[in-house]
Amino acid sequence: MNNSEFYSNVVPQDVGEEISSLINTAINLAWSNLVCSMQQSQDCLIPDFGFHGKYPDYGIPMNRHLYMLKYFPAYLYEYTKMYQEIFRRAVKRGIANLSVLSFGCGCGLDFYGLYFARKICDTADIAISYKGIDLVDWDYRDLVSIQNNFQPTFSNYDVAKITNNYLEGYNVLVFPKSLSDFSDESFKSLCDNVHRSRFTLPLFLAASTADGATDRQRARCERCR
Ligand SMILES: C[S@@+](CC[C@H](N)C(=O)[O-])C[C@H]1O[C@@H](n2cnc3c(N)ncnc32)[C@H](O)[C@@H]1O
Repeated sequence: MNNSEFYSNVVPQDVGEEISSLINTAINLAWSNLVCSMQQSQDCLIPDFGFHGKYPDYGIPMNRHLYMLKYFPAYLYEYTKMYQEIFRRAVKRGIANLSVLSFGCGCGLDFYGLYFARKICDTADIAISYKGIDLVDWDYRDLVSIQNNFQPTFSNYDVAKITNNYLEGYNVLVFPKSLSDFSDESFKSLCDNVHRSRFTLPLFLAASTADGATDRQRARCERCR
């Protein structure tokens, strides 16, 4: 079964085809970028990419390409489901707008999930904005063409720099596989600012952790609660 057939079984056919096409585009681009980076590197070696006790440096282009190849399809599915659930709850509570702030957004993979969840849930009457923050200026952020004032925005800086005033404009705070990547100082500073903020309720808080969450991830999830 190809991607398109798989998705067409669980979502409307046109959305399934668009998801499948995005996956093909992302994987083909990541592969050709990886080959290009390897040809440019002196030793033509792929770096040891993984999470063995330390976190990859996404400032190194090859790590971004490898990340896309390894995780893009699975995380796209996961984030689409996550935003579908947020939409379900928003509709139930009659919420008219969702302003999403994604911490450690990378290429905005969760934005793609938001984009498809919106199509699947058919919630055109809920106004949406999305802002992604990451230390690194990732590539792969413009793989879908967006209409209807739904353009994501991205800023490249440390989450520690976000002030409480800034946070208060948002009602969906998302940590897409990023919770444990933040340094202790950055995470503490972010938590302090979240605690100082006066949000308009209800506030949605969503964290996605990797399989086999580490103690660090578990502790940080608890702190967010
Ligand atoms: C595992 S990646 C997840 C990327 C993306 N959210 C996804 O789901 O594919 C973790 C991200 O957190 C970012 N990050 C780590 N520390 C950060 C910090 N202090 N401020 C902002 N971003 C940070 C990294 O640059 C990286 O892009």
